[in-house]
Amino acid sequence: MPKILKFPQDFLWGVSTSAYQIEGGIENDWSEWENARIKNHESGIRENANFICGIACDSYNRYEEDLSLVKDLNCGAYRMGLEWSRLEPEPGNFNLEEVLHYRKVLQAAKAKNLKVVLTLWHWTNPLWFAAQGGWANPKAVKHFSRYVGLVARDLGEYVDYWVTINEPMVHVANGYLTAKFPPNKKNVFSAWRAGDNLIKAHGAGYKIIHEHFKEAKVGLTMLTNYFEPAHAVNPLEFAFAKLANYCWNDRFIKKLHGQYDFLGLDYYFHDRVIWRSPFKENLNRQVTDLGWEIYPQGIYRVLKNYAKFRKPLFIMENGLADAADKKRGKFIADHLKYAHQAISEGVDVRGYFYWSLLDNFEWAEGFAPKFGLYAVDRKTLARAPRPSAKLYAEICKNNQLKFQPL
Ligand code: FCB
Repeated sequence: MPKILKFPQDFLWGVSTSAYQIEGGIENDWSEWENARIKNHESGIRENANFICGIACDSYNRYEEDLSLVKDLNCGAYRMGLEWSRLEPEPGNFNLEEVLHYRKVLQAAKAKNLKVVLTLWHWTNPLWFAAQGGWANPKAVKHFSRYVGLVARDLGEYVDYWVTINEPMVHVANGYLTAKFPPNKKNVFSAWRAGDNLIKAHGAGYKIIHEHFKEAKVGLTMLTNYFEPAHAVNPLEFAFAKLANYCWNDRFIKKLHGQYDFLGLDYYFHDRVIWRSPFKENLNRQVTDLGWEIYPQGIYRVLKNYAKFRKPLFIMENGLADAADKKRGKFIADHLKYAHQAISEGVDVRGYFYWSLLDNFEWAEGFAPKFGLYAVDRKTLARAPRPSAKLYAEICKNNQLKFQPL
C-alpha cells in the first residue's frame, strides 16, 4: 500500500531561481571575475563558454515562458531575484527602463496567479559598489538601503515575500576567507566587516520595506548546514559541531534581533565534524554530480534547529546537480519526508522551493552542473522537462507526497 503524507493547507510549493544565474546580459563583479579567470588562465578553467555566464538562460527575454513552466509544475509560488546592477548602474542613478522591465516580469507572474518571493541581493554587486570595497565598505548599508527604497516604492506592490539577502555567510566565507568567490580577498577583518554590514543591511531593508508596506513579509535565506559530531561519544567533536552550528547557522539570525517575519532555509549540506583538519569526514554514500553528499535527514535537523526562532520557516532552496535525472525524484521525495516529519512535530514550515526551475549558471562551477527540473540546451536555450518535473508537479498539485514504503 502506498503511503501518503499530506502537507498543511496553504503550503506553498515553488521553485527558486536567482537573477544573475538565469537572466543573461549582466555586467557586475561576477562577470568581471569570470573574464579575469579566463585571462589569467586559472587552472581548470578551460572551456571559456562554460565559465562565462553571458546570456545564461536568456530569462531576461524568456520570462513569460519560464513563468509558464512554473505553472506547468503546479507551483503556487516563484522565487526570483532582481539584479541590482541593472537597476542602479551608477550610484543613485536608477535605470527606469529596467524598473519597467521588472514591473513587466512581476505583473506577468501576478497575471499567472503566482505568489512572488523576491530576492533583492543574491551575491552579485554592481561594479561601482564592488570598486568601493563591496560589503566591507562602511557605506555599503547606505547604498543597499537606497536600492531597497527604490524597489519597495516602484515594485513592492507585486511582492508577497521579501528575501533581502541570500545566504550572507556564503558571501563572507567564499568572498573573504577562502577567496573562492568575488571579491576573492583573504582578509579576516574584511570578512568581519562584510558580515556586520550584511546584518545591518538586512535590518535597514526590513525597516524600509515595512515603512512602505506595514503588512509585508520580510525575511532572508540562510545556507543551513547540518553539523553533527562524526562520533557521538567524542566530546571535542560534539563541541566543534555545536560551535559550527552557532557560527554558520545561528549567529547571523541572532544578531538580527527578531527583525524578520519568516526565515528561509536553503539545505544542501551535511557535515560529520571531526576535531582536526579538514574538520569533516563525510561518508558520502550517495553524492550528486558535484560530489555533494545526499543526506535528506539533515533537512529535518536544520528545521528543528530553526524552530527555536519561533517564526514561519520556508525551505527556500533544496536541490541537486543530476544531469541524468536518476536521483532527483527520490531526492525530492526523501527530503520532503523529513520536512514532513518536522511539520508533524509542530515545526511551522510554510513552503518548499526546489532549486532550480532551470539548469543555470552555477557560479564558480559554470554551466556543467545541472540543477534544473527543466534541462536547458546550451545552444538553443530550449527548455525541456526532465522526468522528475512530472513527479514534482504531481506533488505540488496534490499537496501530498505518495510513496511506496520499503
Ligand atoms: C545556493 C545558492 C544558489 C545555487 C545553489 C546550488 O547556495 O544560493 O544560487 O547556486 O546553491
